[in-house]
Amino acid sequence: MNQKIIIAIDGYSSSGKSTLAKAISKKLKYKYIDSGAIYRSVALFAIQKKIFDSDLWNIRNFIPLLKEINLKFKWNKKHNRTDIFLNEENIQYKIRSEQVTNKVSLIAQIPEIREKLTLMQRNIGKNKGIVIDGRDIGSHVFPKSELKIFIKGSIEIRSYRRYKDLKKRGEKISYEEVKNNLIHRDMMDISRNIYPLKKSIDSIEIDNTFLSIEKQLNFIYQLINKKNNHIII
Ligand code: C5P
Repeated sequence: MNQKIIIAIDGYSSSGKSTLAKAISKKLKYKYIDSGAIYRSVALFAIQKKIFDSDLWNIRNFIPLLKEINLKFKWNKKHNRTDIFLNEENIQYKIRSEQVTNKVSLIAQIPEIREKLTLMQRNIGKNKGIVIDGRDIGSHVFPKSELKIFIKGSIEIRSYRRYKDLKKRGEKISYEEVKNNLIHRDMMDISRNIYPLKKSIDSIEIDNTFLSIEKQLNFIYQLINKKNNHIII
């Protein structure tokens, strides 16, 4: 019988990690965990608590509020996906707003928040059989994961893909704004002191600037076959 494994997919913002992770989890019938959605939920909570509304926004005021956060994932039959709930409210759409996107990397720099969210992710993955995407999954959250992939792509292609997605959703935003946000988030994610975005030495890098999703998936399925005698293709 195939042993269940943990597949960690890290990489830059809007590099297509979640598209790959979702497709792989479907194929293997594994759980998909979007760790970015978890960080975004805490950012939304901070916005709701008006943490950013004064110049004095201050970590000490926010940390005690963390215990009020109750996050749950529930299967959404209608849309065939997992939705995230913050204190019983479905926040699947709210966490993708520009407001949250602009604040999430600030939130992700706070050590107490990273500690709490790391424990949460480890708990979800304790029985393996998961595909999880993020920034520090292979290097920190699941350093012993059996397969680690690191995704990168040119800033132009990533910005263009994200711009197209946002336009499709009816957002009023320019290509330049999207590009600036990605550059800013990448910079904050790479340069933060605690568990930054980092390619761990045992991860396999895919530069998808000129690669279709099908080609990336085929490559990853071959890696999975080799890793664990899974025969999936
Ligand atoms: O993946 P996504 O773009 O939704 O992530 C939003 C932000 O959450 C990232 O820019 C990063 O600042 C933070 N994040 C993180 N560690 C993770 C996942 C996301 O710091 N494992």
